Amino acid sequence: MKRTTPRVAGAALLGLVVAVGSGLGNPVLADDPATLTGIILGVGANESQRIVTWYSSADTTQKVQLAPTSALVNGDFPASAATFAAIGGANIATSGGFNRHATLTGLQEHTAYSYRVGTDGNWSPAYAFKTQDFEGDYDFLFYGDPQIGSSGDVAKDQAGWQDTLDVSLAANPNAELLVSGGDQVETANTETQWNAFLAPDKLRQYPWAATIGNHDVGGKAYEQHLFTPNTDRSGPLYANGNPASNTSGGDYWYIYKDVLFIDLNSNSYTTTSGGGGDAAHLAYVSDVIQQHGGEAKWKVLVYHHAIYSPADHAKDGDNKARRVDFPTAFSNLGVDLVLQGHDHSYSRSYLIKNGAKANPDEQPGAADVYPGPGGVLYVTGNSASGSKYYDITAPDNSGTSGAGNGADPLNPNNYWYNSVQNQEHVRSYVKVQVRGDKLVVQNIRSGTCAAPNAAVERGNVKWCNNTDAAQPVGSIVDNVTVHPYHGDGQQLQVNVPNAAPGEFGWSIGGYNGLVDLGTAEEHNGDYFQASGHLNPIVVTDSRRSLAPWSISASVSDFRDGAKSFPGSYLGWTPKVLVAGVGAQASAAVPSGYDVQGGGLDVSRPLAWADQGHPRGTAEVGADLDLKIPASSDKGDYRATLTITALSS
Ligand SMILES: [Fe+2]
Repeated sequence: MKRTTPRVAGAALLGLVVAVGSGLGNPVLADDPATLTGIILGVGANESQRIVTWYSSADTTQKVQLAPTSALVNGDFPASAATFAAIGGANIATSGGFNRHATLTGLQEHTAYSYRVGTDGNWSPAYAFKTQDFEGDYDFLFYGDPQIGSSGDVAKDQAGWQDTLDVSLAANPNAELLVSGGDQVETANTETQWNAFLAPDKLRQYPWAATIGNHDVGGKAYEQHLFTPNTDRSGPLYANGNPASNTSGGDYWYIYKDVLFIDLNSNSYTTTSGGGGDAAHLAYVSDVIQQHGGEAKWKVLVYHHAIYSPADHAKDGDNKARRVDFPTAFSNLGVDLVLQGHDHSYSRSYLIKNGAKANPDEQPGAADVYPGPGGVLYVTGNSASGSKYYDITAPDNSGTSGAGNGADPLNPNNYWYNSVQNQEHVRSYVKVQVRGDKLVVQNIRSGTCAAPNAAVERGNVKWCNNTDAAQPVGSIVDNVTVHPYHGDGQQLQVNVPNAAPGEFGWSIGGYNGLVDLGTAEEHNGDYFQASGHLNPIVVTDSRRSLAPWSISASVSDFRDGAKSFPGSYLGWTPKVLVAGVGAQASAAVPSGYDVQGGGLDVSRPLAWADQGHPRGTAEVGADLDLKIPASSDKGDYRATLTITALSS
């Protein structure tokens, strides 16, 4: 997708300022300068946006000023700095003051930015963030329930929260998003808790993707502190059905570099209190995926109330209700990963399809999982702050599918739906690596039993199960790679870079993995070229008729969001890899870039055998050759190769 719009360079006005001693006692200041607090960098609608939200003591006109850090001179913003007008309103009466937010748009990739909020003469300190490549692989981090205040000691909770952010971002300085599992604070409208949550400067350097928890819902502070993009604030998405009430809610979505994130207000799950319940969320998710699913390669859902969790909340009636309402729809919608909070304990589910374990043979703790059609991975985050831990609970006899909490036959101490459950009473976070043909999900320790670890320090939990030597900060609790399903055809991917030659790289796995054509190489500014190999196709023919057969294939357009180029640019040279069944390779087809009428956009024969061929098997494949014009837009393009076998 080309979502970037070049920002017009600021007008070349030179701001001249001169200070002349006037003999007057005080410098001239704006009337009643506002005090600006709680500044937080939030996720935008895509990777070229950010949203900055803050509180103001006064109801004045404010804005965000933004410039590449390289344009600052001695910390001063240049006259060419971009400005983004802030909007907002009066806070709810309990906190007083006003809220403001502004959406920063048109960010460029690979740029370090500085920004500040306020108005001329009354600016906040400057903060910095960076953008990275707007295409391709990236990492994001997921944090379960900081819930500042829940240990009973706000300062200790803040210390643990600060430490997890510091530790996780020191280990992953290029992580691009901080995704919330909900419950930012213990008490919805208590500003001392919000101030502690917002204290770490990392929240002004990396974009926070907020999620509403049950502790955030009982007031407007959540919405006032954490403005989110593409947010549907209609009644059905509020627990009480009333967005005007002193409560927070709404669902939102954004696309960040090939991942479509949809974030739900899971506080609304039933219609009895006035909201639209789970049905409203499912309608929302379906709509968003229908409209925008094609713009991304992955679908990740985020909401607070874990439906496949291991601890105190595993048997809650509301979670059982969601566990019936959600999973089949998520399977049908092709969701890849669901990130959840609420149970303050880590779990990673087996792949769940339509509310049951997708593959009974999936082993506990498997390092690689293959969702096939409909398999969904559900992850529950432990406490990121150490403010509160819940202990793992025991299965019962209520069954091993749907709303049941029965035992896993392969691991009877665990719930049937969980591959991994973990509670050591130490802080952790979840790292997700988004790669061309896989998602790598890791749960990583950000603390040990040592302070800051508020729930342990205060004796709220009586034990801590962790050894500094074997399980230090940074050690991995769980590690799983999700290999997505590509259907019955073969999916091809090619990465087209900016006009500079790159390296090739492709992988062919033991399953029908992505056929990765790597990064296309530019040739003299004329065209890009990439090559690869089809995943081998095994042909078996044991019929007595010995009838002729043939295998053909055609490729779709290559697409990346709204960008595309035709499949006719792909050519191939078929090959017999393992002889048998009389298999013969069909003629090579050149790229349509080289030869008018070439290309695989129409069905082309791959291999064939005559009447009377021997019985048995053969393996056929093809070398792929892609040539596209140098004018093609940068992107990660994908196409699907559809294979057809014919025999009389
Ligand atoms: Fe919580």
